[in-house]
Amino acid sequence: MKARIAGTGSYAPTRVLTNADLERMVATSDEWIRERTGIRERRIAATGEACSDLAVQAGRRALTAAGVAATDLDMILVATCTGDFPLPATACLVQHQLGATKAGACDLSAACCGFVYALSVADAYIKTGMRHVLVIGSEVMSAITDWTDRNTCVLFGDGAGAAVLSASDGERGILSTDLRSDGTLCELIMVPGGGSRTPPSEKVITERLHNIKMKGNETFKVAVRTLEEIARTTLSSNHFRVEDLDLYVPHQANVRILRAVMERLGLPIEKVLLNLDRYGNTSAASIPIALDEAVREGRIKDGSLVMLGAFGAGLTWASAMIRW
Ligand SMILES: CC(C)(COP(=O)(O)OP(=O)(O)OC[C@H]1O[C@@H](n2cnc3c(N)ncnc32)[C@H](O)[C@@H]1OP(=O)(O)O)[C@@H](O)C(=O)NCCC(=O)NCCS
Repeated sequence: MKARIAGTGSYAPTRVLTNADLERMVATSDEWIRERTGIRERRIAATGEACSDLAVQAGRRALTAAGVAATDLDMILVATCTGDFPLPATACLVQHQLGATKAGACDLSAACCGFVYALSVADAYIKTGMRHVLVIGSEVMSAITDWTDRNTCVLFGDGAGAAVLSASDGERGILSTDLRSDGTLCELIMVPGGGSRTPPSEKVITERLHNIKMKGNETFKVAVRTLEEIARTTLSSNHFRVEDLDLYVPHQANVRILRAVMERLGLPIEKVLLNLDRYGNTSAASIPIALDEAVREGRIKDGSLVMLGAFGAGLTWASAMIRW
């Protein structure tokens, strides 16, 4: 039994925040942001628009593409680090909005690797008897961004992407997933306040401890190394070579990270999906948004061999090999 991706969907809020807009907010320039990150613009959720709102839109589109009714879902997994509430899980809000009356629902926290981690969970559920699982990556990163910190505020954006996984007997589906983590590097990307270690307080707000903090330069180096390593592991465990891939869909954080990975792997740019110029880093949403674009643009077709690669806070890194 394989977990086949039966349909994808995505949603991006309508408000566009350009590099020129950011020039008016912090000491930065369009040129610096484009050269150092590859990002031109990102989407920002409207006031009152939360993680589940984005997730529901993406989820509906994925269900339509798959031809699966919400009432047929066995499980909903939402990968996010910016859920509507600390409690309950955002997936339960999505379950209600979609009318998925027979589905279980929970969130998965693995930062930018969340979607690939959630795919691996859905894959295991399907191998052990579930028929249809909706996996969503949804983020409102703008809610945890420090809009006075030029080191981070230029990087992130909001959005959601989703995939319906359905049980299938054929050769198509998820061939393998690889998951890794290294908690010794937990301080490289962190929201230090607002959790049980430092609960919400005036100090948390004043010192902006509820916002994302990042050591960008150190993260950059680990990202290049781990993305290369895990891609090689996934290729070799499936007995594939880089040339066999039809498309590599990486987490969209920084075009320089991805160029370095492509060079090390010998992957030509035509085989890599890049859309971070329009969305920035949307954390767990970045890979499913990219996947949905690739499907809709015809870059992924039935039978395509697609590899996913992600890294993020934790640190975590992950990959998946899919026969579409
Ligand atoms: C954040 C990142 C773009 C910074 O690029 P970098 O080339 O590493 O730049 P550095 O951090 O070394 O900073 C270089 C200089 O640019 C400055 N700078 C940082 N952000 C800036 C901005 N938005 N505009 C202008 N200058 C900026 C720094 O202050 C520093 O100035 P200094 O030399 O006077 O101290 C890059 O490190 C990165 O993308 N890292 C990975 C982050 C990531 O992907 N995180 C998410 C993981 S899921």
